[in-house]
Amino acid sequence: MTSQTVERDDPREAALRERVRAGYQLEDPTQMTPRYRDVLVNTMHIAADLEVVTLPTYSPAIRTAPTLDDKIAIASACQDELGHAQVMYRLLEEFGYDTHHFLFERDPHEWRTFQMLEFPHEDYIESVVSMCYGDRAGYITTVDLEENCSFAPFARSLRKVNFEETFHVGHGERWVRFFWNLNERSRQRVQEAVSFYFPLCAAWFGVPDEMKKRTDQLAYKIRGATNDQMRQKWLSQVVPFSESIGIQVPAHFDEESGRYVLDYEPPIHLDEKTRTWDYDRRITWEEQFRIWKKGSRHKVPSISRLHHEVWGDDLW
Ligand SMILES: [Fe+2]
Ligand SMILES: [Fe+2]
Repeated sequence: MTSQTVERDDPREAALRERVRAGYQLEDPTQMTPRYRDVLVNTMHIAADLEVVTLPTYSPAIRTAPTLDDKIAIASACQDELGHAQVMYRLLEEFGYDTHHFLFERDPHEWRTFQMLEFPHEDYIESVVSMCYGDRAGYITTVDLEENCSFAPFARSLRKVNFEETFHVGHGERWVRFFWNLNERSRQRVQEAVSFYFPLCAAWFGVPDEMKKRTDQLAYKIRGATNDQMRQKWLSQVVPFSESIGIQVPAHFDEESGRYVLDYEPPIHLDEKTRTWDYDRRITWEEQFRIWKKGSRHKVPSISRLHHEVWGDDLW
């Protein structure tokens, strides 16, 4: 049965969609319809996975951070991210999830990750670039959930999450500026990291609206903005920021349409090993979906580390 059939045939679903559209918020699972519950749980499940996979992504930078202060900054950001996951686990438990199994026993292939969070940072500069551009992308999606999600406990829990994310973004901005102005080498490294991260972050928001088939998240007001609206918000922040510093990014403000636009047409080819994009080499969306689904070559080893290193097996 397709979602279209459900929408036509099930008056309970239609009634709930109407109520949430009018601003009604749900407080507990008994108020949910099966379809609402599926969409909500799926959204929280992905959000929880995305918080946790930041840990192996950031961990190499803890070792290579230039000063103790930097190590502390990265470690505390990791602690925040785990706290965000914890908030989501507690909510998911109400829907029958077992946190221990979910975190420590689930097959790494089954984790839902986004490419933006799959590449272990090679140095501290990459970490601050990723905070500045990537955490900002994440923040835009979690602010949208906080402001719009019709499941009130999730929306409320994101207030603290978003408060902490502003620190990550702020930390990123400050240190991106610092390294841009430190010396020629660090400036080059900032540019290199931004050039790698920019298309990953732009893709964070998903496929263009015109391609999107599943619209349940919006119909049930789990979130409020479309992929393109959120991507536009991100671009409207990072493009002026980058330009004000002198960092080159593959996007600009288009006077005619009054919108920020990418200078390339996604999806494009990424060489995972050298971390370089070929802006002129378009790949098909089918290829892109396959790449996203499989995850980068770091995905499974990173999640396995979470399962087996110090705070994994030994802690439990
Ligand atoms: Fe987070
Ligand atoms: Fe963050």
